[in-house]
Amino acid sequence: GRCVVAVDGPSGSGKSTVSRRLAAGLGARYLDTGAMYRAITWAVLRSGVDLTDAAAVGKVAEEVELRIGTDPQGYAVTVDGVNVDREIRGPEVTGAVSAVAAVPAVRALLVARQRELINHAGRIVVEGRDIGAVVAPDADLKVYLTASEAARARRRSAEDAVDVAATAADLARRDRLDSTRTVDPLRQSADAVELDTTELGIDEVVDRLRGLLTE
Ligand code: CDP
Repeated sequence: GRCVVAVDGPSGSGKSTVSRRLAAGLGARYLDTGAMYRAITWAVLRSGVDLTDAAAVGKVAEEVELRIGTDPQGYAVTVDGVNVDREIRGPEVTGAVSAVAAVPAVRALLVARQRELINHAGRIVVEGRDIGAVVAPDADLKVYLTASEAARARRRSAEDAVDVAATAADLARRDRLDSTRTVDPLRQSADAVELDTTELGIDEVVDRLRGLLTE
């Protein structure tokens, strides 16, 4: 039957790895909503419109064709048929994504797309910042992953091969923008289970979530 797991939290909390493994283990689909915001940001940067021009940014988002797979073992992200898997993880997109994600028209569009993908999948683990609160408030399980700032910066810097201090500064900047924007800010929904992953390995986190699902 239908089963939706919402995994929210800030960058470096372990969301992506945990969500993919949980989905693969459950034989479910997986949706990386951050990749969708990143892909729109890539399109906005390519278009050359002013990032502070919300109307222009919203128009780019409406006009591009964004596609994203939901296979936890590997999914492609394309914009107008161009594979952007690599570019959306680069520093240009990371530097601009929180501004683009704050544009209400962008969020309205992507939240609607995310709901369609979720309904189509039936069984799915969805990862993001506003999944439990906004995208799928009726999810079967809502998890909010946290970790100390130091642990988050360490993990992210190892993944990106960027030094820890620069990574910590970028995470702090994005956390601030993501949690203070006026629409759908990063926040823990009241009924989410909070899990601090600072001292936990990936497998331990995945095991706990599986335990919560079978309760
Ligand atoms: O992987 P990382 O945690 O660094 O970021 P991400 O999940 O790829 O998300 C990138 C950015 O997209 C976040 O910093 C948010 O600005 C935005 N985002 C959002 O606003 N809502 C979501 N559901 C997912 C991402």
